[in-house]
Amino acid sequence: MEIQTFENLKREKILIAGSAGQLGKAFQYELAQRDINFFAPDEKDCNITQFDSIAKTIDSLEPSIVINCAAYNAVDDAETNQEIADLVNHKSVKNMADICKTRNCRIVHYGTDYVFNGKKEDLYRETDKPDPLNVYGMSKAAGEQAVLDSGCKSLVLRTSWVYGDGTQNFIYKLLGWSEKNRILKISSDEASVPTSVKEMVKATLTLLEKNESGLFHLTNSNYCSRYEWCRFVMETLEKDNIIIPVPMSTFKTAAKRASFTVMSNEKIQSALGYKIPDWRTSVKEYLLKRA
Ligand SMILES: NC(=O)c1ccc[n+]([C@@H]2O[C@H](COP(=O)([O-])OP(=O)(O)OC[C@H]3O[C@@H](n4cnc5c(N)ncnc54)[C@H](OP(=O)(O)O)[C@@H]3O)[C@@H](O)[C@H]2O)c1
Repeated sequence: MEIQTFENLKREKILIAGSAGQLGKAFQYELAQRDINFFAPDEKDCNITQFDSIAKTIDSLEPSIVINCAAYNAVDDAETNQEIADLVNHKSVKNMADICKTRNCRIVHYGTDYVFNGKKEDLYRETDKPDPLNVYGMSKAAGEQAVLDSGCKSLVLRTSWVYGDGTQNFIYKLLGWSEKNRILKISSDEASVPTSVKEMVKATLTLLEKNESGLFHLTNSNYCSRYEWCRFVMETLEKDNIIIPVPMSTFKTAAKRASFTVMSNEKIQSALGYKIPDWRTSVKEYLLKRA
């Protein structure tokens, strides 16, 4: 299959922060395939909480675009590690956006559906007001707002239930549980959109190529409960585990979670000029590639 090229991006220099995460790795793979100039230092050389050293890194590499894939994503641990969640997801993001603003460099940052309280009973749009229920959501809401307020040319892309090459995702965990247990209890009252890093990278690069800026909801299309996601994974892999739908309250988690935070991806699809695939299409492609 022919790969999409991004002619405008070939003139840019991209710095990826958080290069070891699921999204960071996907960017490195896709940018290398397209001969786009990028730097992906590891956390030792690009720790976003080290304000001085981040400024020095940006000054020495002189990127024209910073893509921030770094985040503190431990939703339950954040309840007791409020300071570190706020430092990584908010203060460090503000610092980077401020640095980028003074260097005339664009910044891309990722947000989450956890900024919403789930009370809307409809799809969340970019115009809806955040009202996070947990510490992680609060830190992410503050981070995205700081980028938008910085005056720096930016893309803030809210996403959900991200999976890619890594261990911090539901599919990886599910496959581990399914090896150890025949019966799996999965919540059926928590709905969102499984979103593949491959689609996230493609959409981000397309928006950058088109010189877009602002806040967008970036997810695969349609939505499901965790239970439906699990059923789809097990059926695709022809695994015969028994899957029992249970309420979220079965699991005594530290962080409160909303039951329905599905976001509309209408705005981003219209900016992109293409349809983002149904979540099932991308999950199936991912599973078959892993096999
Ligand atoms: N994963 C999801 O389900 C999900 C859902 C909604 C939104 N998002 C957002 O989507 C974006 C990409 O997420 P992802 O799934 O790729 O996350 P990920 O796999 O957890 O990657 C985040 C990376 O950031 C690194 N990191 C943490 N603190 C850092 C620091 N101070 N300096 C530099 N790097 C640091 C982490 O390293 P360590 O692993 O060593 O800490 C990790 O490698 C993030 O903004 C995330 O909040 C993710």
